Order: sequence, then structure tokens, then C-alpha cells
Amino acid sequence: MSRPLLQVSGLTKTFGGLEAVSDVAFDVAEGSIKALIGPNGAGKTTIFNLLTSVIPADSGSARFNGHELLRMPTHRIAALGIGRTFQTSLLFDQMTVLENVMVGHHLGGRSSMLTAALGILGARAEERECRALAMRALEQAGLADLAGRPASELPIGQRRLVEVARALASEPKLLLMDEPAAGLNMRETDRMGEIIQRTRDGGVTVLLVEHDMSLVMSISEEILVLDGGRRLAEGPPEQIRHDERVLAAYLGEEAEL
Ligand SMILES: Nc1ncnc2c1ncn2[C@@H]1O[C@H](COP(=O)(O)OP(=O)(O)O)[C@@H](O)[C@H]1O
Ligand SMILES: [Mg+2]
Repeated sequence: MSRPLLQVSGLTKTFGGLEAVSDVAFDVAEGSIKALIGPNGAGKTTIFNLLTSVIPADSGSARFNGHELLRMPTHRIAALGIGRTFQTSLLFDQMTVLENVMVGHHLGGRSSMLTAALGILGARAEERECRALAMRALEQAGLADLAGRPASELPIGQRRLVEVARALASEPKLLLMDEPAAGLNMRETDRMGEIIQRTRDGGVTVLLVEHDMSLVMSISEEILVLDGGRRLAEGPPEQIRHDERVLAAYLGEEAEL
């Protein structure tokens, strides 16, 4: 196994009396797709929020490429090379697909201070670079033909791919994806799976939260299962599929392992 790009240990977060994330530890190997699964409320999105400092952890450590992420400001985490897609769609409907992806570059951006310092000439070069990165990200997501279309015209499957392209435009080393296949039909889900694998093949490590078990089982190298904020099991898909504790945790949920 290649070296870990992300090493999480003792990660803990309590909301009021509720232990949403409780002493969670895991590694993500560089160049891999790792899935984080578990029933609703298991703490998956909270882990993403902790890793990106959207909310502060109570305790623990998350080392990325030698840097401690916990207590680092969100924009610095983005600048280190961590991208994210969200559980709910965040596209600007009035903007084109390309503009939506360019926003990702700015938000992840290294450049706003640089732009101010270099003045308008610098700003134009910056804009060109941003546009080129956004176009490349759209190509990676198979959306290049749609660049000029208003986002409002796209069906959900393509909207979710635009969000992936937006995250790719910030050139992440690690991409955190929160339920990218939510609301997608089978064909769209397959397409999303292909794009995630292609992203990994392009050198981006992926940590994937996803409810669609056939997608998770088919593209992940390793799966971490959470239940009630705790680590329940971890291993390759074939092992997780047959794990009795995992099957029991999913009883009553509509998951086919
Ligand atoms: N900001 C918050 N304030 C209070 N409780 C929260 C907050 N975020 C999440 N929770 C609670 O933490 C638990 C884990 O939530 P979450 O991480 O969103 O689960 P998952 O993504 O696995 O479905 C849930 O019980 C949820 O209600
Ligand atoms: Mg969630």
C-alpha cells in the first residue's frame, strides 16, 4: 500500500450531549479511493466538516502531507490541496457551467491578494489562467460541450458533475465527496463512478461518502464503516460486504450490500 496522504486519529466532536464523532481513526492511502459509509446520522458529514475546519474538533489529529489540519483555517486547508463537494447542490443557476466552475477556482484560490497586488494586467492573466483551469476541469468531468449553457438547464446528473468539476478546478490532491450520487438515476450514477475513477487515475486521492452501495463496492479500494460516530469496521469491499456487524447496522435502512 502506498503512503498515507491523510492520517486521522482520535477525532472527536460532541454537539451538546451527542457524540457525533467519537475517537475515530483512519488513514487514506495516496492515490486511492476510500469510502466512508454508515447509516444516516453516523457522523460522515461531520467528519468532512472537521477535516475542513468548518467546525472545530474537540480533540484528535488529522495530518495531511505532514500538516496538522485541525485548527487550521478553512482557506489554508483548501490552499494545501483539499477540495470538497457537498451533499446538497450549490450551483448558481443564472451563471453558465463554465462560470460556476471558475467560482471554484476563486474560492479555492491562491490569488485574490496576488491579483490586487499585480493590478489589472495581473488580473487579466489570472482570469485567463482561471478560465483554462476551469475548462480543463470540465473536460475531466466530460462536460466540455456544456461550458456555455446556463446551469439552470442541466439535469441533476450533470449538475452534480459540474460540482465535481468545480472542486477539480482548485487542483486538489485530496477530494472529499459527500454523497455525489444522491438523487442520480442508475445511468447517471455509473457516469459519476467513471468520473471518480478517472479523477483518481489522474492522481487525485478520493475520500467518498456515499449511500449507493453498488457504487461504493465497485470503485473503492477500502471502506470505513461508521455507526453512531464510532468506527464499526474497515477493510476492502469483499470483507465489508460480509461483515455481520455492518449488516446489522444497516438493518432497517434500504441498503443492499
Ligand atoms: N452543527 C450541528 N449541530 C448539532 N448537531 C449536529 C450538527 N451537525 C451534525 N449534527 C448531528 O450529528 C450527528 C451526525 O450527523 P452527520 O455527520 O450529518 O451524519 P451523516 O452525514 O453520517 O448522516 C447527527 O445526529 C446530527 O444530527
Ligand atoms: Mg451527511
